[in-house]
Amino acid sequence: MTKPVILTGLRANNDLHIGNYFGAMLPIIDMAKQKSDEFQVNMFIPDLHSFTTPIDHSDLYDQIIHNARLFVAAGLPLDNPEIYLYRQSYVPAHSELTWILDCFTGFGEMSRMTQFKDKSTKLSSDRVSVGLFNYPVLMAADYLLYGASYVPVGDDQTQHLEYGRDIAERMNSRFGELFVVPEPVAKQHEFFGKDQGLRIMDLVNPTKKMSKSDDTGKGVIFLGDDPAEAVKKIMSATTDDKANVAYDPANQPGISNLLDILALLRGKPVQEVAAEFAGESQYGVFKKVVAEEMQAFLQDFQARLVAVDDNSVMAKLESSEAAMNEQANLTLLRVQQAVGLRPKV
Ligand code: TYM
Repeated sequence: MTKPVILTGLRANNDLHIGNYFGAMLPIIDMAKQKSDEFQVNMFIPDLHSFTTPIDHSDLYDQIIHNARLFVAAGLPLDNPEIYLYRQSYVPAHSELTWILDCFTGFGEMSRMTQFKDKSTKLSSDRVSVGLFNYPVLMAADYLLYGASYVPVGDDQTQHLEYGRDIAERMNSRFGELFVVPEPVAKQHEFFGKDQGLRIMDLVNPTKKMSKSDDTGKGVIFLGDDPAEAVKKIMSATTDDKANVAYDPANQPGISNLLDILALLRGKPVQEVAAEFAGESQYGVFKKVVAEEMQAFLQDFQARLVAVDDNSVMAKLESSEAAMNEQANLTLLRVQQAVGLRPKV
């Protein structure tokens, strides 16, 4: 019997930030380390997703390799054959399945995606690509090809995952059992031991999520940030005038976000961390603790990144890509047969 699959991907444009790290990368790496005997773990770099919005293509290739190295620095073991690390564009079945799923996906269905609405309003209309519009379809192909049951993502991807479940069910009810339907999002959170998807907020504007596309970079802590710079960003994070360190995201979003960050840095529940600061009225004192722990985290992470061996990363990518082409092509063939593109055997 084949093992259930856990899968996630992180786009390759720009450096990754702490939201990406704690929201998607770390949960799957922890899972990979603890459960690779029970699960197949797929970590991939969705390189085709990298230019749904305009980017500078001259450094994309280097960025893709850099991101593979980030997974390793974050603790992904390279010597475990049940853990795969691969680039999406090296497995052409992703693009082929996307086209087929596109033809069973409604225009209205994609138009309702809030991330598309948000991102497209920030661009002039001639820069809003069809790729940005149908990106959730490519994302669905990414996990349906491997029959993934668990797809750890941040809270901003919940709607895309719901679509992925819908299209899998739609195809199954029309053509028979083609796809494993990923678990419902709530069940996935339970599996990863969380009440809900994680959302790290911007440090300057804590009512919006921390995002790679932030132009100033002041509200975002990137994994490659100079640790001293990250200290400054935390010390100048927006707070409030309540003079009380408490976990209350609705009324104290800035302080609550810093508590979330500190809890993640320590790997502890946020309530426990908040209790430690109960009664603290000086935000400077609290911020200093967060800043120092962030500085130590970045120093340690960056030291591990420098030590990553590029040849082993490249060898892992290549062996995983060969294995993933085999797995993905089996699913693709099943779909091609179901829709009439290949003879049924
Ligand atoms: P990307 O690269 O935008 O984000 C990577 C992961 O980081 C999470 N994330 C956050 N989590 C917490 N707080 C934040 N502020 C924050 N910002 C981002 C995202 O939810 C995501 O999990 N579509 C995906 C990439 C992808 C993918 C897939 C993921 C492509 N195909 C298939 C899983 C399965 C994305 O936009 O990633």
